[in-house]
Amino acid sequence: MEKRKVTIPQLEEMKQAGKKIKMVTAYDYPTAVLVDKTEIELILVGDSLGMVVLGYEGTVPVTMDDMIHHTRPVVKGAPNTFIVGDMPFMSYNISQEDAIYNAGRIMKEGGADCVKLEGGTVMASTVKAIVDAGIPVMAHIGLTPQTASALGGFKVQGKDAKMANEIIEDALALEEAGAFSIVLECIPAQVAKVITEKLSIPTIGIGAGPWCDGQVLVTHDMLGLFDRFVPKFVKQYAKVGDIIVDAFKQYAEEVNTGVFPDKAHSFTMKEEELEKLE
Ligand code: KIV
Repeated sequence: MEKRKVTIPQLEEMKQAGKKIKMVTAYDYPTAVLVDKTEIELILVGDSLGMVVLGYEGTVPVTMDDMIHHTRPVVKGAPNTFIVGDMPFMSYNISQEDAIYNAGRIMKEGGADCVKLEGGTVMASTVKAIVDAGIPVMAHIGLTPQTASALGGFKVQGKDAKMANEIIEDALALEEAGAFSIVLECIPAQVAKVITEKLSIPTIGIGAGPWCDGQVLVTHDMLGLFDRFVPKFVKQYAKVGDIIVDAFKQYAEEVNTGVFPDKAHSFTMKEEELEKLE
């Protein structure tokens, strides 16, 4: 069946029908083209690009211009997939005007179908302001990588009842503010289950267990393209990095030994033309 871009109401219908929502990240045209060939409904142009593509330690240095630069080719490559554009650190934290302006840039200049931003109850009024401006917002709570240093590092959140209740409150506040979906990152599966049952909007988990309405993984993690560290919640579906290194090694060896390029990969000219050469 031909793939059609999912709509926000259809995502809510999927939740009601118990159909799982699938999301992966992409930051470039070729990856987007590949995702578009699958039934995966959503692509997140995540600010994780700071780590897995730009080589930074974390997501904090990622800029609005980085996000727009990487969103455009993804939109071009995946016309039948719903594109979520991540809002980078400090692009929505200073003022609501700023947040609306930057969310607008991700839609207008990047071409995304919605934006995603991190933060719980404290961000609810900002989420409402962006939604009121006509921009759909996916929220993101639990472990929020942009503020990982304030959280004491990349750690599972909500392991005790007090913190878990705060995360549940965050989810309810964001739904009330108008978010159409919420990413739950690195929280106990039981907490994600409670949130998923309490909300009418879909939850999308990463390190949040099997009971979320959907799942998201960072493509470079799941394909084995980023091995600086592999979080516990990541399943590696392929080891593409190893395949690439083997190909580079074989190429280098064949260039060294003259095996490549051979006749099949070279151009020739006719003998009579060759004879005319000085
Ligand atoms: O930037 C990203 O890839 C994300 C996912 C971890 C959800 O926010």
